[in-house]
Amino acid sequence: MSTTEILTEVKALTKRWFALSPKEPFIPGKSKIGLAVPSYDWEEAYEAIESILTTQVTMGEKVKQFEEAFAKYVGVPYAVMVNSGSSANLLALSILSNPLTKNGIKRGDEVITPAVTWVTTVYPIIQVGAVPVLVDVDLDTFNISVREIEKAVTPKTKAIMLVHLCGNPCQMEIMDIARKHNLLVIEDSCESHGAEVDGQKVGSFGDLSTFSFFFTHHISTIEGGMVLTRSEEYAELAKAMRAFGWIRDLKDRERIAARYSHIDPKILFITTGYNLRPTDIQGAFGIHQIKKLDRFIDMRRENARYWTESLRQFPYLLLHEERPGTKHVWHHYPVTVKPDAPFTRKELVDFLQKKGLETRPIMTGNMAEQPVMRLFEHRTVGDLPNSRIIQRHSFLFGIHQGIGKQEREAVVDYFREFMYKVRL
Ligand SMILES: Cc1ncc(COP(=O)(O)O)c(C=O)c1O
Repeated sequence: MSTTEILTEVKALTKRWFALSPKEPFIPGKSKIGLAVPSYDWEEAYEAIESILTTQVTMGEKVKQFEEAFAKYVGVPYAVMVNSGSSANLLALSILSNPLTKNGIKRGDEVITPAVTWVTTVYPIIQVGAVPVLVDVDLDTFNISVREIEKAVTPKTKAIMLVHLCGNPCQMEIMDIARKHNLLVIEDSCESHGAEVDGQKVGSFGDLSTFSFFFTHHISTIEGGMVLTRSEEYAELAKAMRAFGWIRDLKDRERIAARYSHIDPKILFITTGYNLRPTDIQGAFGIHQIKKLDRFIDMRRENARYWTESLRQFPYLLLHEERPGTKHVWHHYPVTVKPDAPFTRKELVDFLQKKGLETRPIMTGNMAEQPVMRLFEHRTVGDLPNSRIIQRHSFLFGIHQGIGKQEREAVVDYFREFMYKVRL
C-alpha cells in the first residue's frame, strides 16, 4: 500500500469513526447540558492526523492558511496565530510596549480596561509595566461603560483594552474617545468571533485585536489564539515576538540580515520575544473550523432568540439584549438575578444544576475584588457598582451548537419550575 492509499483509508476510517458517535437521546431533567461541546468533526480530526503522519507538525503551511482565512473573515489584512487567547493578549501588549514601537506604551502608563473580563485581559497590562485602570460595565451588556471610560482618562492614559464580552460587541463610540485623547485601542475579541457593529466585524476597529480558539469558544483549535491588525509594522513585530524575537518569519529578513553579516540569519534576534507558536495541528483544526463559524453563530443566535423571548416573562431576571445595529454572537447565555428578587442566585443555580444545566459565574466576576489585584498597582474608577452586582448576582450557561429544540425548551421549563417552586 502506498502512503497516498493509506491516507485515503485513514480518511475514510476517521469519517466512519465520527459517524459512529450518535448523540445520546435527550432526557429532560436528567441529561446534562454542558457549557460546551466539541465543535470539530472528522474533517479537523483527519487534517490533524495527516499533519502527524506526514510529520508536518510544527508551525507551517496550515497555520498560514488559517491566518489568511481568519484575517479575511474579520476584514483586516494581517493575522498572526499563537498558542492561546491569553498569549494573543500578551503579544498585543508586548508589541505596543516594544522599544521598536513609536509612541507606544511606557512603564507607568495607564491602560483602561473593564472590571469584568477574563484575568488574562488584565495580566498582560501589568506584565508590560503599565497600570490597569478598572472601569465599570453596563448591566444590560456586561461591556465597558462608555461614560465611565470618559471619567477614567487622565494625562497618563495611553490605551484602552476593551473586551467584547460574552459575544456582545462593545459600543464602538469608544473609538471617538480614543481619537479625541490620542489613545491606542486593543480589542479583546476572545469571546466574540463574528460579532458586528453596523456590519463591521469586531476585531477590525482597534490598532490590534485578539481572539481565542480554546475548546469552549465559537470555533476551536483545542488551544489557540490570534492577533489581528491593519498595521504591517505591528504584524511583523508580532511574527518576531511570537518566536524568540528572531527574523526568520519576517518579510524583510534578507535586508535585515545583510546589515549583520557576522551573525547567521538563522539566529539573528532583533527584539525580545517569547515562544508563543502554535502547532500545525492547531492550524489543521482552524482551516476547517473557520468554514463552520457562521453556521455555529446562527445556531447560537436561534437559541438566544428563543430564550430571551421565553425568559422575559420572569420579572426578576435581567437578560442580555442585542443592541440595535449590532450582531451579538452569544459566547454563553448570561442571566442576572435582580438584587431585589425574593430568591438568590445560589438557589436558582443549584436548582438548574440539579436538572443538569451546567452554569458558571461571569468570567472572573469583578476583577477589583480578586485578591491577585492587591499585589499590583492599579486604579479603579468609582465603586464599580455594576461589576459588584455581576459578581454577586449573575451567572451563565451554554448556548452552543449542541443545544437544539429539545434542550432549549427544557431550559425554559427548568426556569418555569423554579419560579413555580418559589411561588412567582
Ligand atoms: C475575554 C477573554 N480574554 C482572554 C481569554 C484567554 O483566552 P485563552 O483561554 O485562549 O487563553 C479569554 C478566555 O476565554 C477570554 O474570555
